Amino acid sequence: TVVILDFGSQVSQLIARRAREANVYSELLPYDAAWSEIVKREPAAIILSGGPESTLGDDALDCDPQVYASGLPLLGICYGMQLLAKHLGGTLVPLDHREFGPAQLTVDRADSALFLGVPHESRVWMSHGDSVTQVPPGFTPLAHTGRCAIAAMGDDARRTYAVQFHPEVVHTEAGTAILENFLHTIAGIAASWRMDSWVDDAIAKVRAQVGDANVLCALSGGVDSAVAATLVARAIGKQLTCIYVDTGLMRKDESAGVVAAFRDVLHLNVVHVDAKARFLARLAGVEDPEEKRIRIGHEFIAIFEEESKKIPDVRFLVQGTLYPDVIESKTPDSKAGHKIKSHHNVGGLPERMALNLVEPLRALFKDEVREAGRVLGLPNAIVERQPFPGPGLAVRIIGKVNDATLATVRDADFIVTSEIDAAIAEGKLSPRPWQYFAVLTPVRSVGVMGDGRTYANLVGVRAITSEDGMTADWARLPHDLLERISTRIINEVPGVNRVAYDITSKPPATVEWE
Ligand code: XMP
Repeated sequence: TVVILDFGSQVSQLIARRAREANVYSELLPYDAAWSEIVKREPAAIILSGGPESTLGDDALDCDPQVYASGLPLLGICYGMQLLAKHLGGTLVPLDHREFGPAQLTVDRADSALFLGVPHESRVWMSHGDSVTQVPPGFTPLAHTGRCAIAAMGDDARRTYAVQFHPEVVHTEAGTAILENFLHTIAGIAASWRMDSWVDDAIAKVRAQVGDANVLCALSGGVDSAVAATLVARAIGKQLTCIYVDTGLMRKDESAGVVAAFRDVLHLNVVHVDAKARFLARLAGVEDPEEKRIRIGHEFIAIFEEESKKIPDVRFLVQGTLYPDVIESKTPDSKAGHKIKSHHNVGGLPERMALNLVEPLRALFKDEVREAGRVLGLPNAIVERQPFPGPGLAVRIIGKVNDATLATVRDADFIVTSEIDAAIAEGKLSPRPWQYFAVLTPVRSVGVMGDGRTYANLVGVRAITSEDGMTADWARLPHDLLERISTRIINEVPGVNRVAYDITSKPPATVEWE
């Protein structure tokens, strides 16, 4: 394992990803993790991340002093470089002007193990306000940029290296090579971390954790719960019961597909609860988006609890918690933001159920979950499923949710998804947008169909590109594809006479309209 101590840089997570891409297992810990916590990971090397603060103040963020004395290979990045300089006897000064953005790196010591195979000149990404002006005893300056005389330094004997730029971001051309040099050549860590062995290991751990108790899982159809459930089922078989609460708010044929995939293909034990009537009753007349979300969340929990009482000796609940949800950052800029909407998903089950959690995916990033799903043999339709909000189509109907509005949005959505999927299959659209769907609005407008006047609803079409759903841009869909979607919706979906394409990014909009 490589332990990355997180001093709060926006890109710390990327260091962990890059290490894993180099087949080295890595974990991000808060910068002030106790040495006893760090050694539990059996680290083969430690990386000190960047951070938004200055190391020059008296109360500068720092890690456990044992890190510096550990004798382990160390790599300091940006703030981490300055910390190493500060502790090991170098000199640091604040810059008059912060250096931010691209810079040209010149390697001065091509013989350094850190720069094996790195071109003499390459582009790097900088973001710093202080600079090392004199290296600590034992260190050699290894590279510079126009504005930073010591952009990298190293002490071969101590296997301690530092870079002022960010090798983890894609804008640093040789970043991957530099990180791999540190991990493989300097720290001597083999590229042996593989998803298939991780999966075997995870299965063994689940078995050890639950023993012979019964375990519950709330299936949503989403990738995370699907992979978590399948992995747990591999470990304990029929001791696992998956509850699929069918809210009636799913897309066309979706619930039947999810249940069939898990029962017939993956042979999981699935309870299909048809709760459509209950959800529709709860939602009757409700127009406020937040009120919809809250009611759906409460109803879901109530139903799940009722169902779980029917199963004897349940002591565990499976959750598809992922690594980004686990990472706790203690840095000052990580204050919780404003509440935009109450996200509901199967992870929101209450603690009062008094069940222990089984969270087999806690160590994985989203793309790794997909890979684990493939290793476990999940069908592509599940592994590549686009994110779908817990409250389902209810938040894609602006206004009242009932059988009629659900039928309309479902039919329109089916046209949007099947046309976009077809365009992808025919090679006319690439890459696949992150999400694409229809929204039913209560806006009505005048139209003419045949010889008659219409006064019917507006459907919004949304397709976005995104890395993580946190920010998004609208997808530049080909005009002929938009045309086909629009024509089909007007011709095939009763009650709709106008289609608009949403060309708003997030922010300022959100992905879902509610
Ligand atoms: P927003 O609309 O907040 O959506 O920009 C960001 C991403 O989250 C999905 N989403 C949800 N996922 N429960 C979920 O599990 C929810 O309540 C929920 N609301 C939105 C949305 O589809 C997008 O991918």
